Amino acid sequence: MARKVILDVDPGVDDAVALCFALFNPGLDVVAVTAVGGNCSPIQATRNVQAIVEALDPPRFPRLGAASDPEPDVGLPPEGRGLYGPDGLGGADLPVAERQHLMPSEKVICDQVRANPDAITIVALGPLTNIARAFQRDPELPSLVGRVVIAGGCVAVSGNCSPTAEFNIFCDPGAARTVFRSASTKTLVPLDVTNRVTLDFDIFNRLPDETTRAGSFLRKILPSAFRGYRQRFGMEGIHVHDTVALMAVCYPELFAANEMAGDVETMGELTTGMTVFDRRRIPVRRFNMEVAMNLEKEAVIEKIVRGLQRAGGREGEG
Ligand code: RIB
Ligand code: CA
Repeated sequence: MARKVILDVDPGVDDAVALCFALFNPGLDVVAVTAVGGNCSPIQATRNVQAIVEALDPPRFPRLGAASDPEPDVGLPPEGRGLYGPDGLGGADLPVAERQHLMPSEKVICDQVRANPDAITIVALGPLTNIARAFQRDPELPSLVGRVVIAGGCVAVSGNCSPTAEFNIFCDPGAARTVFRSASTKTLVPLDVTNRVTLDFDIFNRLPDETTRAGSFLRKILPSAFRGYRQRFGMEGIHVHDTVALMAVCYPELFAANEMAGDVETMGELTTGMTVFDRRRIPVRRFNMEVAMNLEKEAVIEKIVRGLQRAGGREGEG
């Protein structure tokens, strides 16, 4: 039975790679893709979601949700983190056939969870704005969601948006605190594991053929990410944080997770957006999430590559 998922994304190249994997994975039933601002503005994120799904033309078309402007105090960096350019996709300039009028993301989330109680996994790959708003809109929702899997935060490594904060949490720390403190069942996939996966240039030899939709799409968006990582970090490769988080949904056996008590700093001058975990011998705070702290890196990379090959119609294993 395919797992019903809602992918909440701020595309972003790594979100787009995760979408390409998910929309063709037989183990996933992507019931909705909801946009949120982060790597790019909310309006651009909404456009990108439509353009990505249209470009890939998956076997089953998901419901789409529109990102709405964050609360004024949310610190969306003006152009995301700048890693993927102002449009979030490195200037890929994907066409959008027709601008559909989309329901707000938080309403799509509420409707889909209500329609499938205890059966939906929300895969949060951007700031947690939409999930928090859905929980505020329908206070019973946290107990009706199967699981919330969150790409974000950091436990024992430094942040990537500030010395202490990871990008998705930094963008909307209030929303992250709402979700962390909610009664939902949560899994966090922090930088501690997602930083350990790097796709190098060999990925271009293993992509689906460029005559396929997925092959053409991935060749449009990946080069700019490699340029961004080289210019910004001097790396000869890219992280795919969101796709690694999605692997924790599809292949949990490749990850080791610990029960932890996590919360989010929302006020600190130096620590806003920091994820804080009570790791004392006798933690005072109640465990409220599973946190992935280790993974089988090479196996995860192989799953990613085979899943992208499958998106192009080349049946990969696993
Ligand atoms: O810190 C990595 C996360 O921030 C990823 O989800 C990336 O897409 C950005 O949203
Ligand atoms: Ca993202």
